Amino acid sequence: MSGTTAIDREFFAKHALSAQRAEEARTIFPGGVTHDARHFEPFGIVVDRAIGPRKWDVDGNEYIDYVMGHGALLFGHSHPYLVEAVSAQVARGTHLGGSSDLERRWAQAIQRLIPSAEKVRFTSSGTEATMMAVRLARAATGRDRLLRLRNHFHGWNDSVFAAGRTSAGNIAANGQPDAMQSLISVFDQTDLTGIAAALASEEYAAVILEPTGYSWGTCPLDPSVPRELRELTDRHGALLIFDEVVTGFRMSRGGAQERIGVRPDLTTLAKILAGGLPGGAVVGRADLLDQISFDAGGGRVAHPGTFNANPLSAVAGERALRAVAEEDPNSIANERAAQLARGLNHTLVESEAPGCAWADTSLVHIILGQDIERPDDGVTWDWDQHGGAQPTLPTTTSEVLWPFRRALLNQGVDLMGMGAIVSCVHTEADIDSTIDSFGAALSDLRREEVL
Ligand SMILES: Cc1ncc(COP(=O)(O)O)c(C=O)c1O
Repeated sequence: MSGTTAIDREFFAKHALSAQRAEEARTIFPGGVTHDARHFEPFGIVVDRAIGPRKWDVDGNEYIDYVMGHGALLFGHSHPYLVEAVSAQVARGTHLGGSSDLERRWAQAIQRLIPSAEKVRFTSSGTEATMMAVRLARAATGRDRLLRLRNHFHGWNDSVFAAGRTSAGNIAANGQPDAMQSLISVFDQTDLTGIAAALASEEYAAVILEPTGYSWGTCPLDPSVPRELRELTDRHGALLIFDEVVTGFRMSRGGAQERIGVRPDLTTLAKILAGGLPGGAVVGRADLLDQISFDAGGGRVAHPGTFNANPLSAVAGERALRAVAEEDPNSIANERAAQLARGLNHTLVESEAPGCAWADTSLVHIILGQDIERPDDGVTWDWDQHGGAQPTLPTTTSEVLWPFRRALLNQGVDLMGMGAIVSCVHTEADIDSTIDSFGAALSDLRREEVL
């Protein structure tokens, strides 16, 4: 594909160096990328540097960034707090080869925000955190089966991966042993009847879910569902695991669990947790986490990991969580996200384009090219508006998604899939400018008859 439409011609002209780099990358990396989510058609931009809400590619194009480190950057890129904390620590040791005050302070910062975090175990990623949470649940209950919800994402480890992620069509379970898959039961996120019947078998170690709906709330979940899951798991001796890798410290200071009012047995955390550096954690009931303790003797759950609680992530994480507790970055990010959703919906109406946008705290989701009701207030899902029923939302087809994303990059805006992850350093002016770019991209799509 080389410039069959005006959008594509502009994309190629503006991104010639990214195209060259992508060619070379294809000879080095499978598919030319280092994360499935970085796959882009026909090639992705190659980013050179980033600061605050902005980033620049190797061709010198400037973008307002809504990838925000895949959700890790509530404070934007390289916030001065974090640069200072991490730079000072680099000079004091990047791996201390032992326990440290830093890891204790980081854990206490979590406990200050998340009351269910009676004990904490750090990992190097969200994937490792969900792997450990499931292992702890299996060890504690003596049961092997796991119940998970369709399309909910918990990283790529074999305990939770793939089964059920079929409708998105982009994650394959090849290489995952049937024996592992057969231990996982998958239910639609609103199928409480099916879930209740399965849990009644008393074979399940745990239920794991993204508590605000799958793929960081791409299809929102009525809070009554996690509340009901709390009751069902209690009744049938299974544990409840909230995967708050994305929602932790974002849906509220104490994550989705604070907002929904449910105390899970175990919670997995990453992203904002580590202040923009790599890191994850399993937190929760002391008796469950204490299975990792050497006091647990022969029944213990082992957990090594070279970079667990590494000093750089510890200082960045502690600093970020202190700011979450004391400075309320969430309110600012939430307001900007609401401004963005309102503006996107207004633009869709004005350009008579089918689709909608909505925001849940600082996460904005966009559906384009599908006839769908827009939120009444232009921002949030009102459950009552739908008679209390869960919406079943269509997704943007790839025939619309790729031209849209190229058109928007041409206009200087980068999204995370079909969503925008908003930080507390995006300004009102950044949001206004993003809405203008969206309008221009829609016009391009209308001209090319993509929409
Ligand atoms: C809800 C959820 N759980 C787990 C993970 C895996 O985390 P990581 O990419 O740090 O392994 C992700 C990653 O995006 C996620 O969104």
